[in-house]
Amino acid sequence: MTILRLDTQTDSDVLDVVSRHYEPMMRVHGEINFDVDLGEADVTVAATVYGARLPSVVYLPCCGALRHAPALLARGVERLVAVDLSLESLTAGMARNLSGADHEMLTVCQADLRRARDVLPEDGVELVFLGGNSIGDVTDVEGHLQFIAALADALAPGGTLVFDYAGDRYAPEPGAAVTEWPEIFHADGVDVAVIDRRSRRQTRVPGTAMHALQITCEVIDPETGEVYVAKHSYSKLMVPDAVLVEQFAAAGLALVNVGRVVEMSRYHRERVRDVGDLGMLGAPNCFYRATRL
Ligand SMILES: C[S@@+](CC[C@H](N)C(=O)[O-])C[C@H]1O[C@@H](n2cnc3c(N)ncnc32)[C@H](O)[C@@H]1O
Repeated sequence: MTILRLDTQTDSDVLDVVSRHYEPMMRVHGEINFDVDLGEADVTVAATVYGARLPSVVYLPCCGALRHAPALLARGVERLVAVDLSLESLTAGMARNLSGADHEMLTVCQADLRRARDVLPEDGVELVFLGGNSIGDVTDVEGHLQFIAALADALAPGGTLVFDYAGDRYAPEPGAAVTEWPEIFHADGVDVAVIDRRSRRQTRVPGTAMHALQITCEVIDPETGEVYVAKHSYSKLMVPDAVLVEQFAAAGLALVNVGRVVEMSRYHRERVRDVGDLGMLGAPNCFYRATRL
């Protein structure tokens, strides 16, 4: 199957965020890209939050490596429209997360979701699922508002957007901004025990109640010091819930925070307990439902 490629112009800061999903981060075992079990658990929560039988067409913006697609198709979705800026994620995901039969049910498009309206049904869709904490990936405020407006525009009147977001609940606490944990790096032909080290720093977005969270990541062999993923940074916009509600209302969406994922999903709860840091997908993460008015 082919990946549609829209001719979009995207700001360099957005491409910076997107580039973190490329190789070699895709070789870090604990990264979520190829974790279809976590994808299935996310979809189970999303279906509960949606509260009805899934519609025949579902839109999956910021789909990354498509780890949610198999579970959505298994629940009877007949057509998935999947959009992401990262061609690398889409290509790797289609090869590793989906069967050939699944490919037939997908329309996959490499584009900035803010300019991808044409790949969706003219009247909009009943359900959009935005997984993996993707709100805030566009960190400039105007771009972030365009991002929300594009999600609203994708929905049919009365349609629902379900998403997860850690928001400002992932703010670094003083003195606890650096975390590291053991990981496996899938090098060519050999798995290496490494350390994934991340630091977090937040700065206020001037004139707003929002913060930009800057995360720095490096993956090294603690024994030899060999670097497997060079130190790199990416940013995320942290929007407090009260502000998010206003931003969604301005786009014609009524937003509700449905609750913490660890309270709604045994899988997430046990994974956080057993595997440890799921970062912003773990304890601080909440599911939201937004309805187009
Ligand atoms: C945090 S990842 C989540 C990926 C996937 N949903 C998952 O849960 O595995 C965010 C994804 O959004 C994509 N992305 C960020 N900004 C985007 C934009 N403006 N348009 C389309 N995709 C975007 C990135 O390339 C990345 O794959």
